Parts: sequence; structure tokens; C-alpha cells
Amino acid sequence: MKVLVINGVNLNMLGVREPDLYGKKDYKTLVKEIKAHAKKIGVKVCCVQSNYEGEIVTFIQRALGKYDGIVINPGAYTHTSVAILDALKAVMIPTVEVHLTDVDAREDYRKISYVSEYAFLRITGKGFDGYTEALDALKQRGVER
Ligand code: DQA
Repeated sequence: MKVLVINGVNLNMLGVREPDLYGKKDYKTLVKEIKAHAKKIGVKVCCVQSNYEGEIVTFIQRALGKYDGIVINPGAYTHTSVAILDALKAVMIPTVEVHLTDVDAREDYRKISYVSEYAFLRITGKGFDGYTEALDALKQRGVER
């Protein structure tokens, strides 16, 4: 099983950005933790990050035929991007939406998630563990190709 982990806008700033909300660990550490967990459960994983909406769309489009699952935290694009939702609907790869924070308990403008319309599971407020739980959920669902 191959899973693509996509982190969106500002997630490269982990460790620096609002540590009270997002924690003190950086993006590199997140990738290390994801890779270690993937290895443990026998899943192949590739981690990508972009601050550009169009590049995230391209990551999703290029996943077609190559990946069996997607884990995505689009960052603020969660709340604005119909384009990312449309890309997910186009490739039809099982997807888990992850947020480090409990987005529903924050500002009203974070309560909308376009990606949620497609994702089969949404994990919020669990910090880095949300990503490892997402891998477990995809592994449990299995390969659908
Ligand atoms: C986030 C929540 C978003 O509202 C915010 O814009 C982010 C990170 C999270 O992981 O909690 O950049 O997706």
C-alpha cells in the first residue's frame, strides 16, 4: 500500500508558528514520525508540502494510479479551496483529512471544510498523532485499486 501525505500552506512553519496551538515540533520531525509509523505498519509513504494551492492540486492529480490513499492537511486552504476538493473527487483515491488542532472549536471561519465533503474520515485536534491514526485508517481500509 502506498500513501501520499500532503501538507498545505504554512505547515512548513511548524515549530515556529503559534507553538501554543501547533506545538513545538517542526515539519521535519512530523515527516520522521509519519515515516517511522508507516514502516511499522508496512505502508509505503511519501510526504509533500506546498504553500501553493495549484501545486497541491497537481500533487493530487499526479497521485492517480500511483497511490492507494491520501492523507491531507490543506492548512487554511481547507476552508477556501473548492479546487482541492475537485481534485480529490477527480482522482477518487481514499482520503483522510487531518488537522493538528480542533478546528471546529476555533474561529467560525475554520468550521467550513471543503475537503470534508470527500474525505471518508476526518481527524482533528490530535496533533501529530492525527497523521499516524490516518495511516492506520487507510491501512485498515485496504487497497481498492
Ligand atoms: C490546520 C487548521 C487550519 O485552520 C489552519 O489554517 C492551519 C492548520 C490544523 O492543522 O489545525 O494552517 O489545518
